[in-house]
Amino acid sequence: MRLRVTVPASTANLGSGFDTFGMALGLHDVVDVEVRDSGLEVEVLDAGAGDMGAVRTDEHHLVVRALRRACGQLGVAVPGLHLRCHNAIPHSRGLGSSAAAVVAGIAAGYAIADRTVDDMALQLAAEFEGHADNAAASLFGGFVVAWQEGERFHAERLDPHPSIRPVVAVPQQRSSTKETRGLLPDSVPLADAAFSAGRTALAVHALTAKPELLLAATEDRLHQDYRAPAYPATARLVRELREHGVPATVSGAGPTVLALTTTGIVPDGVGVDGFDVSELPVDLTGVHVTTEA
Ligand code: HSE
Repeated sequence: MRLRVTVPASTANLGSGFDTFGMALGLHDVVDVEVRDSGLEVEVLDAGAGDMGAVRTDEHHLVVRALRRACGQLGVAVPGLHLRCHNAIPHSRGLGSSAAAVVAGIAAGYAIADRTVDDMALQLAAEFEGHADNAAASLFGGFVVAWQEGERFHAERLDPHPSIRPVVAVPQQRSSTKETRGLLPDSVPLADAAFSAGRTALAVHALTAKPELLLAATEDRLHQDYRAPAYPATARLVRELREHGVPATVSGAGPTVLALTTTGIVPDGVGVDGFDVSELPVDLTGVHVTTEA
């Protein structure tokens, strides 16, 4: 059996929705999967990301682990595997490359089991990451609101307003989510929590119905300032874009900058030296699998 999994990148948080909001973006990893009688072979091809050096190509490979996890859960045996990963999502930049790999593996497992992805797929994917924002976006596409009840992860998928044209500014610098989560405080002042509740609620409306409210709605007091010392150039670009009226945020745990424009470009006069800037449309589909018998 052979199948091809196409999985989108994602941006998380969108400013005020820390560990809650995600959005799928039109930049895709593609994984060709062949189920064989025995053995494991993983080929990793750089389809533009340019930084695949550290990727493991054994049982620790994230796609393999997620695929095996899903197949185990679904009761399907996969004796041998050949994977060819065409990676386009840059690693350690805040564009959800790990979540995309996990979602690709889980979607492949579901396809092998002849099942369509469901809430258990989200559960499996989110368990790898500890939060569901990126994983839900890569699974379902569009704009997602994720939440957790005890150990259980949930997400609702919404259609973002069609006039939103995300632009990303990707620096060469990498950043570790684990390290920048370590910069966050254990508790925040009640005033900041109340500020965030209002902005997050407003953001759902702004992202789906009234993009002109996005500058206010994406204001954050829970994570970006605490993480800023880890990537000063990112913090500077977010601030400068916002001063120009562009709703800009750190993408996920950074260091990529996300600008939720309605023009597809950043304004003249904003300094983007050192960043690779491109428009990435919202991916409305989420992970997609085609099979060959
Ligand atoms: N919500 C997560 C964070 C996204 O900000 O740490 C990164 O995976």
